[in-house]
This record gives sequence, C-alpha cells and structure tokens, in this order.
Amino acid sequence: MSDKILVTGGAGFIGSHVAEELVARGAEVVVLDDLSGGYAGNVPQGARFIKGSVLDTALIKRIFQKHKFKYVFHLAAYAAEGLSHFIKKFNYENNLIGSVNLINASVNHNVKCFAFTSSIAVYGENQLPMTEALTPCPEDSYGISKLAVEQELKASKRLFGLDYIVFRPHNVYGERQNIRDKYRNVIGIFMNQIMTGKPLTVFGDGKQKRAFTYIKDIAPVMAGSVFNRRAYGQVFNIGADKPYSVNELIGKVCKAMGAPSCEVRHLQARLEVKYAFSSHEKVRKFFSYRPRYSLEEGLAAMALWARTSKCGPTKKFRNIEIMKNLPKGWL
Ligand SMILES: NC(=O)c1ccc[n+]([C@@H]2O[C@H](COP(=O)([O-])OP(=O)(O)OC[C@H]3O[C@@H](n4cnc5c(N)ncnc54)[C@H](O)[C@@H]3O)[C@@H](O)[C@H]2O)c1
Repeated sequence: MSDKILVTGGAGFIGSHVAEELVARGAEVVVLDDLSGGYAGNVPQGARFIKGSVLDTALIKRIFQKHKFKYVFHLAAYAAEGLSHFIKKFNYENNLIGSVNLINASVNHNVKCFAFTSSIAVYGENQLPMTEALTPCPEDSYGISKLAVEQELKASKRLFGLDYIVFRPHNVYGERQNIRDKYRNVIGIFMNQIMTGKPLTVFGDGKQKRAFTYIKDIAPVMAGSVFNRRAYGQVFNIGADKPYSVNELIGKVCKAMGAPSCEVRHLQARLEVKYAFSSHEKVRKFFSYRPRYSLEEGLAAMALWARTSKCGPTKKFRNIEIMKNLPKGWL
C-alpha cells in the first residue's frame, strides 16, 4: 500500500510543488488548503483536495481519523513577513495555532514524521551567512511564530516521540506563485507590475540583498526528506547560495519579461533585515543537494508561466490590526 500523506497549503506555491513530487513518487496525497492565498487549480492531478482551514480542529480530527496519515507536510501559512508586524493576532492564530492543531493531531494519530516549512526569518539580523548552529533571534511576528513551531516540534519529539524535519527556505520563486499579493514575493510583485504597466516599487535604496531560490531546486528535496530517517530531528536551511541586491534583481526580471526599460519608484525604506542569505552545507551533506538553475534560468521559466497567469490588481489585506508605521504602499 502506498503512503498516505497530508500536505497543508498544497494549493499554494511551494506546497503544490511538494505535493506534485509526492504524487510522482506514488504517494496518496491529501491537500488541505483554505484557498486564502492559493488556487484549487494548483493542486496536482492525482492528489485529493479538501478545502478547509488548519484552524478547524473538528475537520482536522475527521481527516486524520479517516486517512491515518503516515507523513504530514505542513506548509499552510500566511507568509507576508513584513506585514506580520501589523497583523500580529492573525499571524499567531493562523501560523502558530494552526500549526499546533496539526501537531496535536499528528501526536494523537502516531504520524511517523512531521515535515515543517519554517523560514530563515527565524535568524533575524544575525551573522552571515546564517547557519543552523546560530541561536535564532527573529525580528518580526512571522519569524517568531515559525521559531515557536520549531520549538514546539522539539518538545513534542521529547515528550511524545513525534519525529520531525524542519526546512528553512528563503525567497523562493517560480511557476504557480501568487503574483497578486502586494505584501510579499518581490519577483512576483515585479512581474505583475510589468504586466500591468506600473512602475516597479522598491522599499528604500534597493541595496538590500537576498539569495533567490528557484522552486524546482528545492521541492524534490523537501518531498523526499521524510523517507530519509537520518534527517529526522534536523533543521535545514535550503535555497540558493548567491545573494543579489534588489537593484540587480530588477535588471534580471525586466530582461526575463522582455521589458528592457522598467520605470522604478523608490518608496520609504521599511524595517527589514538588510542582508539575508544562508549556508547550505548541512542540506548538501544530508541530501546531496545541488541547485541546478541559475537565477536567469529560473526567472525565464517563471516569466513564461507568468505571461499566461492571472496578473492584475492586487488584493488588499482586510483586517490590518496596527496602522502606525504601516508602509505607505500598503495603505
Ligand atoms: N515563498 C517563500 O519564499 C517562502 C520562504 C520561506 C518559507 N516559506 C513558507 O513556505 C510555506 C508556503 O509558502 P508559499 O510561498 O508557497 O505561500 P502560498 O501562499 O503560495 O501558500 C500557502 C498556502 O497556505 C494556504 N493557507 C493559508 N492559511 C491557511 C489556513 N489557515 N488553512 C489552510 N490553508 C491555509 C493558502 O491558501 C496557500 O495556498 C509557508 O509556510 C511559508 O511560510 C515560504
């Protein structure tokens, strides 16, 4: 019998790629997603889709009882890191309590391994490159909730024997990313702005640096991880190595989109980590991880997809809890 696997957030960007990899490996995949940020059309063929929230404990209980999952991949979250300062309550409910609901069910139903998608946001403004050996020190509500879930998993292993793996990806981009969310995913935001004839908006001087990770370089590793017992109880950074400034990125995105001269509008700098890139020595050792795509290749593939996808006006987040110091572009 094939393994039954739950993928939360499987109608979203990274989750749909992880689910696709698992289906291709012959697993029976159930996707749970409330479609707050994803699309039903992203759920891969061969996976079963349940529309619902990780906050719905009655639903979670029902589906765990029915499907007896061997593995859980938890990716459902609202990952607008910058906005998380201003939507703290929502952030902790959705991203932390939602995760706790799944950990409870996984303990109660003897799940063999819980794979959690955390983020390098747990590091905060730390030494560079960020390595797994550093003491995390998150600076925003999103990173704090991710770290809390990581620690909860550690405690649940100690007390209940729930095995887990944590991935900390960063700045992932590629096909099926929601390009209509104005609060997150700089590459998707730029592509949407190019397609709708708007200037590209940059917070501050554009010298902030990130390493941008193409989805097809990480989804197979994440999907395969639970079959590698050596990885249980481990935390892994995963993603691209080479950092680029946002200014450098602009040139590359414009080129990929066939838009040689993009207008750029600089907005007031927001409170964010200036340089964020991590070491991937550990994931390389455990999984023979080798990214195959250059930034140019990944952007070209995403641009091809973006031209046929739903660009257009971005959605506004409805219930902002703190208006003080909210960046102007987010009003
Ligand atoms: N994209 C990145 O660069 C990045 C980097 C580090 C970590 N992550 C993490 O990876 C995971 C996936 O991110 P993504 O970029 O694919 O985002 P995404 O928005 O495309 O996917 C998240 C999915 O979760 C769903 N979701 C949100 N809240 C839910 C809830 N309460 N119940 C059920 N479903 C819910 C959304 O509808 C969406 O489909 C998240 O946990 C995110 O924090 C992403």
